[in-house]
Amino acid sequence: MKLDQVKKIGILGGGVMGGGIGQVLATHGGFEVVIRDINDEIVRQTRESIVDGRWGIKRAVEIGKLEFDTAAAAMERLTVTTNVNAIADCDFVIEAIPERLDLKQQEFAKLDGIVKPDAIFTSNTSGFVIAEIARDVSPARKALFAGMHFSNPVPTMRMCEVIYTPETTQETIDTVSAVAEKAGKVVCMVKDEPGTYGFILNRIFAAAHREADKIVDAGIASREDVDKAMMTGRNWPSGFYGQRGGIGRQW
Ligand SMILES: NC(=O)c1ccc[n+]([C@@H]2O[C@H](COP(=O)([O-])OP(=O)(O)OC[C@H]3O[C@@H](n4cnc5c(N)ncnc54)[C@H](O)[C@@H]3O)[C@@H](O)[C@H]2O)c1
Repeated sequence: MKLDQVKKIGILGGGVMGGGIGQVLATHGGFEVVIRDINDEIVRQTRESIVDGRWGIKRAVEIGKLEFDTAAAAMERLTVTTNVNAIADCDFVIEAIPERLDLKQQEFAKLDGIVKPDAIFTSNTSGFVIAEIARDVSPARKALFAGMHFSNPVPTMRMCEVIYTPETTQETIDTVSAVAEKAGKVVCMVKDEPGTYGFILNRIFAAAHREADKIVDAGIASREDVDKAMMTGRNWPSGFYGQRGGIGRQW
């Protein structure tokens, strides 16, 4: 599947990540987007955070980051639903359900039977080995399977790590990258590596965090001073210990 054949994108999971990914694909990417979650209350919350949330479309228009007409057209193209069959005719799927390997394997096995055979499948896992997530899909789908790791909050963070397995075709890698770029993201390519957890961003952040802990534990500097050093010396928006973003809607 090439970029110009990707018209409709299905997102599994409308939480912190799925909602943000759907938002940028509909606004910047111009794609038709269907987000699927498990119940009506979550579907309502997902819509609300896309429209009225801190990183949502309304605020983006208010602060001049998004044209009103683009926002209005994007909302026409975006659906949030509990109906998994709404993803069946998607050209491209992004999974953003909770970080549990067994759950991801199970959901992809189900999707493999529901979604059209030439659709590309991707996972926004924070770090599982992509080939393991793809374990239970058909051999043909494994060729169309990649990782697509966005950073939170998706509407403002530009990174998208694209992770390819030994089975991912070059055409799939090119299309996944092109979809991310069309949604305004900067692609960082990563080889899927058995026996690891995390790609570039999370592994390097975790290593730096371990070093920061060593400095604090040795009494060399306080947590506050470690954070201050990184925020004022490297312009990090936050340090390791103070209030920082990440998982949750409180960003
Ligand atoms: N939050 C972050 O900072 C961040 C950053 C990068 C990647 N990730 C990864 O993105 C994925 C999602 O994380 P999140 O923070 O958005 O989690 P979240 O809990 O906010 O959202 C997950 C959503 O998936 C839904 N869900 C559960 N089972 C489902 C199913 N079978 N079908 C459809 N929807 C289902 C839940 O109801 C929930 O709304 C995880 O793999 C996580 O590791 C998270």
